[in-house]
Amino acid sequence: MSGGLLGIEDLSREEIEAILERARDFQRVQHQTVKKFDLLRGRMVVNLFFESSTRTRTSFEIAAKRLGADAVSITASGSSVSKGESLVDTLNTLAAMRPDAIVMRHAASGAPHFLARYLDTPIINAGDGTHEHPTQALLDARTILDHRATLENLRVAIIGDIAHSRVARSNMYLLSKFGARVVLCGPPALLPMEMAQLAPGIEMTFNMRDAIAGADVIMMLRVQLERQHETPFPPNEYFQFYGLRLEHISLAKPDVLVMHPGPINRGRELSSDVADSRQSVILNQVENGVAVRMAVLEKVLNKS
Ligand code: CP
Repeated sequence: MSGGLLGIEDLSREEIEAILERARDFQRVQHQTVKKFDLLRGRMVVNLFFESSTRTRTSFEIAAKRLGADAVSITASGSSVSKGESLVDTLNTLAAMRPDAIVMRHAASGAPHFLARYLDTPIINAGDGTHEHPTQALLDARTILDHRATLENLRVAIIGDIAHSRVARSNMYLLSKFGARVVLCGPPALLPMEMAQLAPGIEMTFNMRDAIAGADVIMMLRVQLERQHETPFPPNEYFQFYGLRLEHISLAKPDVLVMHPGPINRGRELSSDVADSRQSVILNQVENGVAVRMAVLEKVLNKS
């Protein structure tokens, strides 16, 4: 077992609190002229991304460098995977170069868990298929807690392509550990009823207005066209029924937070005026991604 970070489901409430608290220290540093520490000097982090990423890959790389570690980023298209090398051989090859951690994104659910059983190098899950995206849920929690004293009893509406969303799953696990009231909403084809079993107290609705009524947080999700095998909804039709518009905001609490893990598709999941509104904390989420990933790297590398 690698001692990395594979999912939120495996973390205790105390472990999550410790990461979020440490991320607060790193948040403050982001506003200083010199943002670099020596905490992980001489350590090496390899980012191995088999799927596209802007936010996660860049922020892990920045996080490692701000902690004084060296970071190397590899994408599947630029690696020997494109010459037919298997996942196990690729990971064994990288592990032979003795990195201190491997940050990995893969389209297959469970891929990092499978590899963690065989490698001594700690693996940090940067998103596996439709399963989990643990650092996204941690940065989302950090962002909510920057605006609210507690997660307990907050009504969090998660809206969109729930079926294919690792962000939804990790957030459900985290939010329910802290007593938030999670409402899942999406079109019937993208909202499997069995999702309610994943965590206690999950509500489900197909009606967006019902989901948003009284919400403290509205978390919109990207429509994951790359994971949909059925004919996707025409964008205009999806936006009409499940796109967040200004008219919806008044149904929520007056100080509602609008979130989206990104990348956002304006005019499909939310309107431009909502994305750029004062309620939107989408760029705060991105900023917190660096601080939270610094806290995660520090925890994982100091353990290894
Ligand atoms: N939220 C997120 O995972 O974004 P990227 O795909 O750009 O990393």
